[in-house]
Amino acid sequence: MTVLVTGGTGYIGSHTCLELLEKGWDVVAVDNLSNSSPESLRRVSELTGRPLPFFPLDLRDETALGQIFGRYAFDGVIHFAGLKAVGESVAQPLEYYGNNLQSTVSLCRAMVRAGVGRVLFSSSATVYAPGSPLPLGEDAPTGGCTSPYGWTKWMIEQILRDTAAANPGWSVALLRYFNPVGAHPSGRIGEDPRGIPNNLMPYITQVAAGRRECLTIFGGDYDTPDGTCVRDYLHVVDLARGHVAAMEYLLEHTGTETFNLGTGRGYSVREMVDAFERANGVRIPWRMGPRRPGDVAAIYANPAKSRSVLGWTAERTLEDMCRDSWNWQRQNPQGYET
Ligand code: NAD
Ligand code: UFG
Repeated sequence: MTVLVTGGTGYIGSHTCLELLEKGWDVVAVDNLSNSSPESLRRVSELTGRPLPFFPLDLRDETALGQIFGRYAFDGVIHFAGLKAVGESVAQPLEYYGNNLQSTVSLCRAMVRAGVGRVLFSSSATVYAPGSPLPLGEDAPTGGCTSPYGWTKWMIEQILRDTAAANPGWSVALLRYFNPVGAHPSGRIGEDPRGIPNNLMPYITQVAAGRRECLTIFGGDYDTPDGTCVRDYLHVVDLARGHVAAMEYLLEHTGTETFNLGTGRGYSVREMVDAFERANGVRIPWRMGPRRPGDVAAIYANPAKSRSVLGWTAERTLEDMCRDSWNWQRQNPQGYET
């Protein structure tokens, strides 16, 4: 079994490459390194003791991509590559539509030409229409996205559904991630955002490491138990293993299926800060700031379908997520450049 991983040097991609290799599958990774370092995969290879061919290329370069498909006989593809900063997508929509959509079309064309018809896609809980009752099942309404980033996920889901419908035998899983956090327990690979982190957990770990002075909590007046937003945080190792389970499912099924990858449990921003302090014995100074535009009060998954169909559940606790995030940051205070 040989799997092509796009966006393989990134945060979720690198953790997934590790789980695929540990499963005994062969992995080939591509990435344009616009938001990641090849050091992540060097370390994955070191941790697993297995080779991991990596090709630095942009997915929109159809010639270069075609050469990779010519060189290996892939049994499946996992498509992580894309731009993912919600706020940046509002300021630069064409960058996001251009990169994320063209990359996917280019990948699908290469797959059709090579006769490879099995693909997992990194979608997001952001495709669900705001205001739907919680927890969110896969059949909840989608659309009404609050950012161009969210719309790219929504559109790519449709591109993949249509491509599968037009190519009998294709099998597609649209994986809707909730909020991945944490790192491999070795502390050798983890999340290494460039510049000021947009997301909560890397901001917390950078405050803990002394790289930033204080966390700003974006809004304390939401309609939630403590007034701060509630999200469904899941450990990145659980998420990575969800991809192994979904790929095994695709080996046996054709057509398109959608799966939530989340825990089904929401935690507030205040609860996250408290849990991080408790798990690691460090203090996180914070101040209350205004709401961040586009945030919704609460969102969490109904993961029942992933449990019953894929046999997958998120097993790691909030304490594991906080401990492993800090373990990675402490060992690599400047990320992969440390
Ligand atoms: P990441 O930025 O670490 O990984 C994405 C990778 O894609 C990067 O390494 C980047 O260099 C690469 N890339 C971007 N455009 C490319 C192109 N045109 N050609 C080749 N490579 C390209 O992000 P991540 O957190 O690992 O996310 C992986 C996927 O999961 C993304 O599609 C993201 O939108 C999705 N996702 C992430 C989250 C999250 O909270 N991290 C939540 C939901 C969905
Ligand atoms: N937050 C803060 N301070 C910070 C950063 C975040 O208070 O410095 C808060 C946010 O306001 C939000 C919560 O922490 O209430 C979580 O924010 P993140 O940015 O970590 O995560 P989001 O839920 O906004 O978004 C994430 C991914 C998206 C994905 C979405 C799906 O970044 O890619 O989950 O639910 F689409």
